[in-house]
Amino acid sequence: MSTPRHFLDLDDFDSATLRHILDLGSAFKAGRAPGDAPLAGKTLAIILEKPSTRTRVSFEVGIQQLGGRSVVLPESETHLGRGETIADTARVLSRYVDVIMIRTDAPAKLSELASHATVPVINGLTDDSHPCQLMADVMTFEEHLGPIAGRRVAWVGDGNNVAASWIHAAVRFNFTLRLACPEPLSPAPALIEWAGREGGDVGLVEDAADAVAGADCVVTDTWLSMGQKDAKRRQELLTPYRVDEAMMAGAKPDAIFMHCLPAHRGEEVTDAVMDGPRSVVWDEAENRLHAQKGILAWCLS
Ligand code: CP
Ligand code: NVA
Repeated sequence: MSTPRHFLDLDDFDSATLRHILDLGSAFKAGRAPGDAPLAGKTLAIILEKPSTRTRVSFEVGIQQLGGRSVVLPESETHLGRGETIADTARVLSRYVDVIMIRTDAPAKLSELASHATVPVINGLTDDSHPCQLMADVMTFEEHLGPIAGRRVAWVGDGNNVAASWIHAAVRFNFTLRLACPEPLSPAPALIEWAGREGGDVGLVEDAADAVAGADCVVTDTWLSMGQKDAKRRQELLTPYRVDEAMMAGAKPDAIFMHCLPAHRGEEVTDAVMDGPRSVVWDEAENRLHAQKGILAWCLS
């Protein structure tokens, strides 16, 4: 039996494959993709161990638009919530469905699912990464500003799961990334070391202004990711990293603002930036749908 085409993390892929998947997503968006219903008869299982608005809806709508269907499995309504192992769940679901998307906490659960499933597994976010988000983000950047290769992106705030996927993306899509994070909330040193080994231009700075200077794009995310409890400490550490109009003024005049959403307006970003002329957050949310259609089609091709 051949190995399923999993979509687990961007660093698993070479640049050409990621570009091919992104091109597929753009072709679906433009109505240029071949076939009316390329995934007719295919079923996607969606395992949700954390809440989701965008990921769930965009995957459900995406597979429907490709001719397939989805079944959503909230953890509390399956035997996963009662102790059935991930491995056994993978074996069983593989007998019913053609592809599985999981949103979970521990990355080890994602790996376990992928190693025991005989169908493709897609990472819909873990505590460590959010690769589907980055496919949509690169698509959005390029729609607004052209090729991302050689451009400069500033990540400002918590060095979290989305930041980790930005690091992977910077290396694979060949752009400069500067991350401004308070030292205790910086991305894992192993990630920065990986980027260096791969020849990426990824660096950490403590001052947000240093990251934003000359940036084509400023990105942030919530100060408190799902499952985290230390809200007060994070608020204190991250207040200097709030993205406001003064911070955006340090970026290039045509710089865009991105956020994976959900946003906590008034915390990591002000209303003026979220709703301002540089914000592309709604395009970014829409592109989850198109980019993931590319991912689904690639996994099942
Ligand atoms: N950006 C994102 O993944 O949103 P959801 O948590 O709503 O899926
Ligand atoms: N960092 C956030 C992203 C949500 C899409 C979280 O993990 O909650």
